[in-house]
Amino acid sequence: MPQLLLKNCQIVDPAAKKEYFSDILIIENKIRTIARDLQPGPDTKVIDLQGKIVAPGFIDIHVHLREPGDEDKETIATGTMAAARGGFTSVVAMPNTKPAIDNEAAVEYIKCKALSDGIIEVLPCAAITKGRKGEEISEYGILKKAGAVALSDDGDPVANPEVMRRAMEYSLLVNLPIISHCEDKNLAGGGAMHEGYYSTILGLKGIPCLAEDVQVARDIALAEYTGAKLHIAHISTAGSVELVRTAKKKGIRVTAEAAPHHFALTDAEVVGYNTNTKVNPPLRSEEHVKAIIEAILDGTIDAIASDHAPHTVENKNVEYDYASFGISGIETSVAAALDVLYHQKKMPLIDLISRYTTGPASVLGLDYQGLEPGRTANLTILDLEQIKRVDVNSFASKGKNNPFHGREFKGWPVMTIYQGKVVVGN
Ligand code: DOR
Ligand code: ZN
Repeated sequence: MPQLLLKNCQIVDPAAKKEYFSDILIIENKIRTIARDLQPGPDTKVIDLQGKIVAPGFIDIHVHLREPGDEDKETIATGTMAAARGGFTSVVAMPNTKPAIDNEAAVEYIKCKALSDGIIEVLPCAAITKGRKGEEISEYGILKKAGAVALSDDGDPVANPEVMRRAMEYSLLVNLPIISHCEDKNLAGGGAMHEGYYSTILGLKGIPCLAEDVQVARDIALAEYTGAKLHIAHISTAGSVELVRTAKKKGIRVTAEAAPHHFALTDAEVVGYNTNTKVNPPLRSEEHVKAIIEAILDGTIDAIASDHAPHTVENKNVEYDYASFGISGIETSVAAALDVLYHQKKMPLIDLISRYTTGPASVLGLDYQGLEPGRTANLTILDLEQIKRVDVNSFASKGKNNPFHGREFKGWPVMTIYQGKVVVGN
């Protein structure tokens, strides 16, 4: 049986709420022993991780793998390779594929493809409504049985509050969270960027923060009324953050995720019309970015999620108004977080790691496996001191649409171990 001995690990485990130094022995796909000064057997592969951080495997709760239907943008093979390079051992695949993941066969297709082509775990998210049209809710019992871990019409909001009410009521019967893409399309009004100073000087139609705030307020009201488990996707405004903070205090079952581009970039990046800055919700102004960072630090925001949205060059190499929304961000998520939140904002490392592990796991209600003997050996290894410039040309993702290209980050994921195998690293 293959044996892997990780020496001199600095373990940071939010599941066990522990930080300590140890060696880790992995046999086959499981952690066998965590103890100091373990000695290798004759066939043991030894990796010295002196100076590195070893954490339980990271989860990205919001990823667009584009398969089926848009394999020119990404596939399960390339998307999971990109995720592993980004330090992830699990991703939640969003259902805005072609066709949408709204039935049993579609969920099974994702699971089968993930097993044959993927190099890490893919957890399918199924559509709230049939065809993601926002009209008729999907069959949640069947979807859950097939393996769906959450429900979302992401990419589009569920505009009709009566449909969302029913969705929430039925989600309770199967105990699945509703992941809401909070956007009032009328208020968003076909805008291309955040409405404010920069949209005015650039002459681009703005998307006001209100478009998000009113939908977050509505969904929190619906969650309070129905008792459903609501998760706000890619939260981006000071107003929404305050709504979530207050709702949590009231005991409403609401959680939230934020994307790295919403805490590491502002709408000033749009100057120059680089279409890789075009994303929905849009990059916001400084006061919103500040509020997002505060909410990540204080736990109002439970998870950091990339909203990895790969697009082709043809989708992006056009006038700003015509470019697709989205950032291919899974390979820069952890580096952006380590640079901005850990190094610059001094966020405690165990808290930061929890936003990638216990945070998303509790949103999904997963029995999350920390680093304990007997657990599956899924591990993310970080080098907090590594300084590297983002280069989209080195991405495993087919999507090269990333606005961090050329930016230097301090702190990178350097190795990913999935089910006892080193899938990325040496
Ligand atoms: O920018 C975005 N791109 N936001 C979304 O909600 C959907 C995503 C996509 O699928 O491209
Ligand atoms: Zn979305």
